[in-house]
Amino acid sequence: MVFDQQLLHSLIRAIPNWPEPGVTFRDITPLFQSPKGTEMIINTLAERYRERDITHIGALDARGFLVGSPLACKLGLPLVIFRKPGKLPYDVIREEYALEYGSAALEVHTDALKKGDRLLLADDLIATGGTLCAAAKLCRRLGAEPVEATAIIDLPALGGSKRLDSEGIPSFSLCSY
Ligand code: PRP
Ligand code: ADE
Repeated sequence: MVFDQQLLHSLIRAIPNWPEPGVTFRDITPLFQSPKGTEMIINTLAERYRERDITHIGALDARGFLVGSPLACKLGLPLVIFRKPGKLPYDVIREEYALEYGSAALEVHTDALKKGDRLLLADDLIATGGTLCAAAKLCRRLGAEPVEATAIIDLPALGGSKRLDSEGIPSFSLCSY
C-alpha cells in the first residue's frame, strides 16, 4: 500500500489543552485502531530501513512500543526496550530528561546492547527530543550507535528534530504539526 499522508492525518486526533492548558495532544489511538493505517505506517518505515546497516530497533516506553515492536518484527531485527524507571528487572543504566510537560527518565538493561550495535530508535512523536536524546545517550553509554530516530509525528516548533540533529542523530517522521 502506498503512503497516504491524508489518511495518516485523518487518524491522528488533536486534543486541545491536554494534559495541561496550552498543550495540543496528538492522539494516535485512532491510527492503531485502524489496521489499514497501522499497516501503512509500519510498511512505509520497513521499506525505508530495510536496506540500511541497522542491527537493532530500540523502542521507547510506552507509545514507542507500538511503532518499534511491529517494525522490528517486520525487519527481522532484535527489539531493545527503553523503559520508564522501575520497570526493567535486571541491571540497568538510567538517563534523566525534561518533557514538553514535566520530567522523566529512561532505563535500559546493561546487557541489551554492546559495542558496534547500530540502532534505529522508534517513538510515536518528537516534541522537545528529550526522550529520544535520553535513549541515544543510553545507547552510547553501552558502546552502541543510534544511527537514526524515527517517529510518526514531529512537532518541529518544539525543536526536537533539530536538537537530535545537533547531537548527531538524523530523524525521520511520517508527518508533522
Ligand atoms: C511522549 C511521547 C514521546 C515523548 C516526546 O511520551 O510518546 O516519547 O513524550 O516528547 P519529547 O520529544 O519532548 O521527549 P510520554 O513520556 O508522555 O510517555 P508515554 O509514551 O508513556 O505516553
Ligand atoms: N508527547 C509530548 N508532547 C506531546 C503532544 N503534544 N502530543 C502527544 N504526545 C506528546
